Amino acid sequence: MSYSPSSPKMCHSPRVTVVGAGKVGSTLAQRIAEKNLADVVLLDIVEGMPRGLALDLMEARGIELHNRRIIGTNDYAETSGSDVVVITAGFPRKPGMTRDDLLVANAKIVVEAASKAIVYSPEAIFIIVTNPLDVMTYLAWQATGLPSDRIMGMAGVLDSARLETFIAMELGVCPQDVNAMVLGSHGDLMVPLPRYATVNGVPITELLDAATIERLVQRTRNGGAEIVQLMQTGSAFFAPASSTCVMVESILLNQSRLLPVAAYLQGEYGLNDIFIGVPCRLGRSGIEKVVELNLCDAERDALHICAREVRKNLDRAQEIFAAVTR
Ligand code: APR
Repeated sequence: MSYSPSSPKMCHSPRVTVVGAGKVGSTLAQRIAEKNLADVVLLDIVEGMPRGLALDLMEARGIELHNRRIIGTNDYAETSGSDVVVITAGFPRKPGMTRDDLLVANAKIVVEAASKAIVYSPEAIFIIVTNPLDVMTYLAWQATGLPSDRIMGMAGVLDSARLETFIAMELGVCPQDVNAMVLGSHGDLMVPLPRYATVNGVPITELLDAATIERLVQRTRNGGAEIVQLMQTGSAFFAPASSTCVMVESILLNQSRLLPVAAYLQGEYGLNDIFIGVPCRLGRSGIEKVVELNLCDAERDALHICAREVRKNLDRAQEIFAAVTR
């Protein structure tokens, strides 16, 4: 076959839209471009800001040795034809704000963002990052009408990375050698699975005593709060951006990585009609498979407790949301 520079196949550069150009969104845009994965459209409601960030990232291209375009905009029309849309737009909890206030404020933002983005990128795979993550993913799924294998939430990769980090620090080993998986919802009720954690294939239960493992698990549960407390203003964004980037990469490069993501369940793990963190194979078509692990009774119970809490928050969000939009 002869080479044709005008062939659409040869020219197509994957495109990722990141809605919300705050700390997580802008760091994610940087990671995607500097890993040479895709062109990036950075969209925010604040005027000028995403264009400034995009220009700043573009000016680093010669130094970082990539040629990806980064566009900053306030206009969804510019996100057109994206392969992946990531939603990070939203508020962190502010003083005086109740949990319900935050739920409604972020629900409105995520629903608006998802509804607008899908119009311009009907073939995209959506990743939701805004908290409370499991609830926001459900609302975005409803708003877009996407098949459930094309929308997911990011949390498990981050929670797993935190547990892996604490195991590596405790043992003094390279973090790359540690593998762990955290299921469930993103919050205090997450379900770390130390039974399945290994250091290059060696179960951590052979290397650490039960009390130490429990301490590391508790630190993982408290991972986000520990950072908020130290930073005082704002919350974690480097590791959340890296974790989202891993998912984007597995999708764009069709890597079929097995990653814990908030996925829509239809009977798996005995759960129905809910987005919650479970191991999934991620490839070019999105969630290729939800993998059902053999959980012991305690792990399964913990996952069901998470699901009940997510369901409660979802019902609450839908109730308040319906009242304010009526
Ligand atoms: N449309 C687009 N962008 C919006 C909208 C909207 N309707 N509303 C708010 N934003 C933007 C804000 O202008 C801000 O730039 O979302 C961005 C949020 O950025 P940050 O406040 O820096 O928050 P960040 O730390 O990036 O966290 C974003 O990710 O991990 C989660 O809990 C975190 O829900 C939070 C989200």
